[in-house]
Amino acid sequence: MWDPAAYLRFADHRSRPFADLLARVAAADPAVVVDLGCGPGTLTVHLADRWPEAVVTGIDSSTEMITAARALGSPVRFDVGDVADWEPGPDVDAVICNAVLQWVPEHPTLLDRWAARLRPGAVLAFQVPGNFDAPSHQAIRSVAADARWRDRLPDIRGGDAVLDPAGYAARLLRAGCTVDAWETTYLHLLPAGDADPAAHPVLAWVEGTAARPVRAALDDAGWAAFYRRLGEELTARYPARDGLVAFPFRRVFVVATKPAG
Ligand SMILES: C[S@@+](CC[C@H](N)C(=O)[O-])C[C@H]1O[C@@H](n2cnc3c(N)ncnc32)[C@H](O)[C@@H]1O
Repeated sequence: MWDPAAYLRFADHRSRPFADLLARVAAADPAVVVDLGCGPGTLTVHLADRWPEAVVTGIDSSTEMITAARALGSPVRFDVGDVADWEPGPDVDAVICNAVLQWVPEHPTLLDRWAARLRPGAVLAFQVPGNFDAPSHQAIRSVAADARWRDRLPDIRGGDAVLDPAGYAARLLRAGCTVDAWETTYLHLLPAGDADPAAHPVLAWVEGTAARPVRAALDDAGWAAFYRRLGEELTARYPARDGLVAFPFRRVFVVATKPAG
């Protein structure tokens, strides 16, 4: 379902929340670091740069993403795996999970389990998009409801896909962690390109992420028609001004630490 090239099209914009998350992780010299849902690995390698003595592992369920990550030739080990099956072992010092848990419906209970098993002093840091009710997702849901393809498409999730910072904080505090939780709305100013709706930058953005389940469910002709129709909806919802499209994007951040013994 995943396409590393489509995902990396906005690598600069997408890397900033990762940097903002990492800035709040105080771990000085972790020995074992795991990046869950590491995608194409381009951000995982920053973990190895920050903690050169650590054993860093990236895990992702997409073989396409892991193939791209291994091709980076970094010291990081990259494995195919599902985060839902993952458990923190007693040696894990830092767990990073950036822009992944929104794809895992049962993730609040997963967080409870991870928090319960983290060793004292270990840190769990994650970020999820909080934009499921934004115009971009409303547009995807509205186009997905078209009779031409609605029977072939999975549910496109709404605001219930993730919790807010207080919701995550309450769970992780209950699990005995100290918690730092916040939200940020970034304003991505994207070059507008030409007037063709199929070239709208928010369309290119969601093609790499939120629209992946639609791409996976439709054949090439169905996807081409969906893509054009979605481009028209997004052009109406995110008009270009002075050559730029303003794309607000809310994200939720959590850094939970298990108190040292
Ligand atoms: C938006 S990308 C984020 C990639 C990377 N963390 C980053 O910040 O660049 C989401 C990634 O989560 C992975 N993913 C989704 N569900 C997963 C699961 N259940 N287990 C492991 N990886 C998963 C996808 O394959 C994809 O690579």
